[in-house]
Amino acid sequence: MKTASIILAAGQGIRMRSKLPKVLHPLLGKPLISRVLLAVKDITELKPVIVIGHGAEAVRQAVGDEAQFVLQAEQLGTGHAVSVAQEVLEGRADLVLVTFSDMPLLRQETLAKLVQMQKDSHAPLTMTSIVGDVPRGFGRVLRNAAGGICAIVEEADASPEQLAINEYNVSAYCFEAGWLWSALPRIPISAKGEYYLTELVNIAVQDGHEVQALVLDDPSEGLGINNRVHLAEAESILRERVNTALMLSGVTLIDPEATYIEESVLLGQDTVVWPNTCLQGSTKIGADCVIGPNTIIRNTQVGDRCVLLASDMESAVIEDDVSVGPFCRLRKGAHLAKGVHMGNFGEVKDSYLGPGVKIGHFSYIGNAEIGPNVNIGAGTITCNYDGENKNLTEIGENAFIGSDTMLVAPVKIGKGACTGAGSVVTEDVDDDTLVVGAPARVVRKLEKRD
Ligand code: UD1
Ligand code: CA
Repeated sequence: MKTASIILAAGQGIRMRSKLPKVLHPLLGKPLISRVLLAVKDITELKPVIVIGHGAEAVRQAVGDEAQFVLQAEQLGTGHAVSVAQEVLEGRADLVLVTFSDMPLLRQETLAKLVQMQKDSHAPLTMTSIVGDVPRGFGRVLRNAAGGICAIVEEADASPEQLAINEYNVSAYCFEAGWLWSALPRIPISAKGEYYLTELVNIAVQDGHEVQALVLDDPSEGLGINNRVHLAEAESILRERVNTALMLSGVTLIDPEATYIEESVLLGQDTVVWPNTCLQGSTKIGADCVIGPNTIIRNTQVGDRCVLLASDMESAVIEDDVSVGPFCRLRKGAHLAKGVHMGNFGEVKDSYLGPGVKIGHFSYIGNAEIGPNVNIGAGTITCNYDGENKNLTEIGENAFIGSDTMLVAPVKIGKGACTGAGSVVTEDVDDDTLVVGAPARVVRKLEKRD
């Protein structure tokens, strides 16, 4: 049996009050539409079909070729939106899973269960519902005395007694494809002038079918996003899912509600994360680290036993036993080898800092190759940019760079060399040599440093 999927995403999302189409608003780092797409992609055989309308181009671009698109030029309701997808799917699928782009909390397992229920059912469709106290514009599920589903009534059309019903229509459905295409033209027009998808439940019931609902164990999965209050609620629910899984896997989160970790991030056992920390993208952190407070890490690899305090890092590599911060910035291409110590106010970009390098205070290191156990004094700057090119600074092992040294690249400092405080180094320095001044000149050869 082939299952296709349709994701409705043509609505404007007026209640978001945003220039950005609703479905492109990010939730824990990923646009709503991408989350829905991820949930359906692996449980259906055909490429998902996204119905676009408002912001069509932006949505198409953001999603790329993960989906195929159909345009609903005029938004005439959720039932009409599904009918727009008919031309690309008719005859190609046995089952059609329909879900909305503004419901990013639905789990893949739940949708898989819905598809399975429909496979096992004699009715032409299976729907989903939640039971609870969720006052936010949901259609109500009407059942008869025997508990069978009779109809769905939209909140706007519901009587006071119907409004008191606490079973809500989530709006994820699985249809038998042939029935779906034949029933769509039977949807009546609503008082608002729209064709509601919910009417298909009513049509199936009228035709004598026993429609089943998958009642979700976790009602939070059914929450749709209509405004930014819902968006923040959803963010907090997702955050809780991710953080709970991390804590159960052996990571300590001092204050999970103030810790922002995307689900793509990996953390090792006994690592402790302090509040106001954001861990994003492909970041991978080892065991026994202490991260934060106030640390932002994106797409960065971190080894074991590192201490990263109040710093910002992106696309960096940090080996074991490194300490960074407070107030440091590691930019792309920063590679700190085992045991590097970076104190306060340092910036590193496109540079390798060898094992045991110390850089305690106020420095900028860009486009540099630094050997093992080099000491970088306070205020050291690699003058890497001459206005046109980025130039390389090389520093040999055990060198000692005095406070406030300017290393005017391209320049090489030899192994065990020393620069005096305030030196402006414009020429290469030999191994085991002391230079001072501006521009720096040789003073004498040194005893070997190690
Ligand atoms: C819908 C359901 C309601 C359910 C609720 C759950 C209908 C009529 N109502 O109401 O029973 O409880 O979801 O969240 O289905 N869209 C289009 N084209 C259109 C209209 C809408 O693509 O012409 C898309 C929107 O972009 C959105 C989704 O369909 O992703 C739902 O539309 P929305 O207006 O938010 O429906 P609700 O009022 O939430
Ligand atoms: Ca909605």
